[in-house]
Amino acid sequence: MEYKADFLVIGTGIAGLSFALKTAKYGKVAIVTKKNIMESNTSLAQGGIATVCKSSGDSFELHIQDTLASGDGLCNPKTVEIVVNGGPKHIRELIELGVKFSRKDDINPLDNNEVFDLGREGGHSRKRIFHSHDMTGMEIEKVLTDHVKNHKNIRIYENHIAVDLITYSTRLKRGSIITTHEDYCCGAYVLDINQKKVKTFSAGITLLATGGAGKAYLYTSNPDIATGDGIAMGYRAGAAVANLEFVQFHPTCLYHPQAKNFLISEAVRGEGGVLIDDSGKRFMPKYDKNADLACRDVVARAIDNELKTSGSDSVYLDISHKKSSFIKKRFPNLDKKCLTFGIDMAKEPIPVVPAAHYMCGGVLTDIHGRTNINRLYAIGETACTGLHGANRLASNSLLEAAVFADKAAKQATLEIKNINASIPTTPNWDETGTTDSDEVIMVTHNWDEIRRFMWNYVGIVRSDKRLERAQRRIEIIQKEIKEYYWGFKVTSDLIELRNIAVTAELIIKCAAFRKESRGLHYNIKYKQRDDKFWRKDTVLRKPYIG
Ligand code: SIN
Repeated sequence: MEYKADFLVIGTGIAGLSFALKTAKYGKVAIVTKKNIMESNTSLAQGGIATVCKSSGDSFELHIQDTLASGDGLCNPKTVEIVVNGGPKHIRELIELGVKFSRKDDINPLDNNEVFDLGREGGHSRKRIFHSHDMTGMEIEKVLTDHVKNHKNIRIYENHIAVDLITYSTRLKRGSIITTHEDYCCGAYVLDINQKKVKTFSAGITLLATGGAGKAYLYTSNPDIATGDGIAMGYRAGAAVANLEFVQFHPTCLYHPQAKNFLISEAVRGEGGVLIDDSGKRFMPKYDKNADLACRDVVARAIDNELKTSGSDSVYLDISHKKSSFIKKRFPNLDKKCLTFGIDMAKEPIPVVPAAHYMCGGVLTDIHGRTNINRLYAIGETACTGLHGANRLASNSLLEAAVFADKAAKQATLEIKNINASIPTTPNWDETGTTDSDEVIMVTHNWDEIRRFMWNYVGIVRSDKRLERAQRRIEIIQKEIKEYYWGFKVTSDLIELRNIAVTAELIIKCAAFRKESRGLHYNIKYKQRDDKFWRKDTVLRKPYIG
């Protein structure tokens, strides 16, 4: 059975939903999401959206400088300028849609000031984070979801997981030799998880907005859906991917046996929280002049070093010097969650460890979100637009998603005008010769193994030897997955394992390629940044077989 739309959106975070709302004015939109619409990285984003507010003494130049400094020489300055300058417009748009950002008098009732309460996070030289208490992403996701659900041109397919993109190739011949080719995307095969049936979705434009790949690592702040689906599907289809070695580890995730993936926002340090060791001593001042508000790569490496040298299980984040009433207003969600684990953040330090948080690399795009495959776009964490360089500045990602959703939607609505007539008929999914799986253990075992060796060998501190070990292991696992994939009917677990394995392999390859340390990539053999040879993106693309 074939499903047709003008725009196919894969993923339902801020990027996918914003793009859907904007393109729905010009055509039919199908949104596919593998769980329910609200399950996305966006929903878990605590910090907020970095945007310049001139009345608070900030400037676009300062935000640009902070982003470039954090990116450690690899940002694309043009992209940085576009995103930073787009901030105020997109904050206004979100407010008009109904997003409620915290105001000063929400947080401190004595402050009779009707203006937004701007937060500060690591690497920012000014307060510029628009937030909604400590649940900014959830507030944005709810508002966008409401609009999308009520739009007559948008159809949402929940519990539908994309298997692969559908592409076709136009080969250009000179005599009998193929001299060049052009790839086009015309939709995706999608597994309806409840009906256990693969459906064909044909579309004029396809958008990858599936978020990141934190689940490639044993410890992550990401939700279960973060399995690198867009990156893996894009790469398999022939899209170029870039800079996957730059995996951002968030310095402070709650350390507690029952606390799965719980992030303690950087905003806590922005409000005066400090990192301390087992004996209560601050350690960040010895690593960086900005101490606890240094960039994330610096803080995560410092904690890693403290843990390795002391043998402790965690360090601590202490904000207990602030009034309990302030903490309850500013961090209602964190306070409640910590209390469920018996930790009162207003009275005692919170045990924390770093965890995989954000992919700075992804599917390579231009400044309109276009990939090298015609009619295929990628935005949000799935994409590598050039904004983050070697290390994303905190709270720049929701802003990037909003700006690029807008730019991609503008470009896609122009492009769609010339497409509809030329979408080829797409073949249906063929599962001849496959049977139901009898060995689910292959999926769970390999996933566990990948997450563990990625954490140990491709984590915060890397070495050539560790990367070689990881490479050897992923090759064996990839072989097993391939054999299994072609023999059995697809399930969502198998699709996710296949995607996480491809993404892990790409991260390892990018990390092994870069023979220097820069931003989030730190290799003990090459401890310095080397601008002469390595001030460039690491780009990978599957070879074309004509
Ligand atoms: C946080 O609240 O610390 C996360 C913000 C971000 O990753 O940008």
